[in-house]
Amino acid sequence: MSSAGSSLAADVVVIGGGIAGCSAAWFLAQEGLDVLLVERDAVAAHASGAAAGMLTPTAEGEPGSPLLVRGLAALAQLRESLCAELRARSGIDPEFEPSGVLRLALSEDDERTLRARSSALSGSGVDVEWLDAQSAGALQPGLAAGLRGASWSPREAHVRSPLLTRAYAGAAQSLGARVVAGAVVTALVLEGDRVAGVRVAGALEGVISAGCVVVCAGSWSGAVGSWLGAVVAAGALPPVEPVRGQILSLRESAPTVRTIVWGEGAYLVPKRDGSVIVGATEERAGFDARVTARGMAELTSVAPRLVPALADAAFEHGWAGLRPSSPDGLPSIGRIDGVGQLIVAYGHYRSGVLLSPLSGQLVRDLVIGKDPGRDADVFDPARFSRAASPDRSS
Ligand code: GLY
Repeated sequence: MSSAGSSLAADVVVIGGGIAGCSAAWFLAQEGLDVLLVERDAVAAHASGAAAGMLTPTAEGEPGSPLLVRGLAALAQLRESLCAELRARSGIDPEFEPSGVLRLALSEDDERTLRARSSALSGSGVDVEWLDAQSAGALQPGLAAGLRGASWSPREAHVRSPLLTRAYAGAAQSLGARVVAGAVVTALVLEGDRVAGVRVAGALEGVISAGCVVVCAGSWSGAVGSWLGAVVAAGALPPVEPVRGQILSLRESAPTVRTIVWGEGAYLVPKRDGSVIVGATEERAGFDARVTARGMAELTSVAPRLVPALADAAFEHGWAGLRPSSPDGLPSIGRIDGVGQLIVAYGHYRSGVLLSPLSGQLVRDLVIGKDPGRDADVFDPARFSRAASPDRSS
């Protein structure tokens, strides 16, 4: 990543080097804007570095939900051109793998739910079909005995999340964006009720003046509330809370897992290097990002219930990240009422990798004043405060 040393001013300062910040930097840099991204630790050091990189909107979103609809649109962009473009620009291959997703029905209840879901999805034009156990086994050998069938979504995929994050950052840098790791934002610079820059320490020291500041600090984005103090009313900022996801990597002596396999609340993701990522716990443990014995036990016991041969796979390592959760599972991307020149883009929860193109494009549109269309309503940061006091919106 580039080092400090240039003037402490930018058209746009992006706070946070996770996938939301790096994607915002890429789309903003394409507009010819002078972008300076500051990251406290390193690019992809936290949730974006920990994620399994699944691009699986049909598994994450309910039929017809905004998450599913927006997720399918984002997946299409990543598949059709974005991953290739980022790779060409940055020299970093995000390892897009169009593996498809099998969701296993291992009980009568699962079968009922997954069959209904498959038919709702395929009825609305999404490429999902129900497979009996034999057909599922032909696609993915070695599945659990007792399998009752599976839903198959052939167009879904995965990437290496840390690589995609770095590819966004590298592509932005290829257009002149500055990405500075080890720069800690300690305050916003306010001029009345307008944000005029940020105060930083560490790799950069002092004040960076900016035409616009974008907060993409994931689970740590709540800091913006204390930076703004009395400038915003209590409750005006969208809530965010860390939800720990522990995850681990296994290696089979002869790889058998070739599709994403999802079941029993867990998933298996086969990576290009032959490893299988097993994820993930969902724990409210504050900012504790430790890997625990309980978390590893849960994941090592669920993996062989999906693909029994994984009981004999070598355990490589475990890690954890803090997903930035939001009450409805969707990110908050937009301006904050009453505060000029400030945009937030946080709370992507389980879908930061998948939604990264839409998130970055919406930030770009807000900064350059282009009509952002429907996404602006879906991801409106004010939706939580409106729901809390419905009278205010009338
Ligand atoms: N996107 C999967 C997870 O958050 O575990």
